[in-house]
Amino acid sequence: MVFLSTDLVFDGQRGGYGEDCAVAPLSIYAETKVEAEQWVLRDPRHLVVRTSLNHGRSTTADRGFNEEMVRAWRAGRTLQLFRDEYRSPIPAEHTARALWELLGKECGGILHLAGAQRLSRWEIGCALAAILEGEGLSCPIEPGTLRDYNGAPRPPDTSLDSSRAQALLGFRIPGYAEWLAAGSPPAFPESGSRCGGQR
Ligand SMILES: NC(=O)c1ccc[n+]([C@@H]2O[C@H](COP(=O)([O-])OP(=O)(O)OC[C@H]3O[C@@H](n4cnc5c(N)ncnc54)[C@H](OP(=O)(O)O)[C@@H]3O)[C@@H](O)[C@H]2O)c1
Repeated sequence: MVFLSTDLVFDGQRGGYGEDCAVAPLSIYAETKVEAEQWVLRDPRHLVVRTSLNHGRSTTADRGFNEEMVRAWRAGRTLQLFRDEYRSPIPAEHTARALWELLGKECGGILHLAGAQRLSRWEIGCALAAILEGEGLSCPIEPGTLRDYNGAPRPPDTSLDSSRAQALLGFRIPGYAEWLAAGSPPAFPESGSRCGGQR
């Protein structure tokens, strides 16, 4: 079994989280993920994959974070994006490819699977806006800060260290801004090392 979990299992006080870091969920969503992880990991053959924001396309065009941003811009809204909240976004196609490879490797335990770049919400928005404005869409954004935010608790830095997963994969997971700027997804060479009975 492969269970998809989230970078939000961490409280975001340090960032660059590895698989061995202690979890500290701040939301109900994250709490349920932590509880589910613990159930899933009772069987050592099961794999928990924690991922971050996934960039992708859905049939309804409203499920990915990128799709939500595009919808807002198409509606003429200006997005306020935090300059001090960090994630490790990853294209969903890389997540899918990596999961497919990991399924064949009989991995158990926890693996982090996220983009190679730690980016603020602001940097994510700028990278996406640069591409879309080149295609003629106006993408107004303004900087925000968690210091002025009064809503439910938000972890400031849940960037992930995905080096363990990367070492097992037959392709390189790029940084999100790097991938966007490259314009098209890189080719995926075959192969990669097997899980060495770790964790
Ligand atoms: N998207 C992200 O940026 C992100 C980031 C971190 C972690 N994750 C994790 O990755 C996983 C997938 O995320 P996602 O964004 O692809 O979610 P999603 O768009 O909400 O898709 C969830 C999928 O699960 C199906 N589903 C939900 N409840 C079900 C049930 N009771 N029985 C059978 N199928 C059910 C849904 O079916 P329908 O299509 O019929 O509703 C949908 O196909 C989730 O576990 C999420 O927590 C996602």
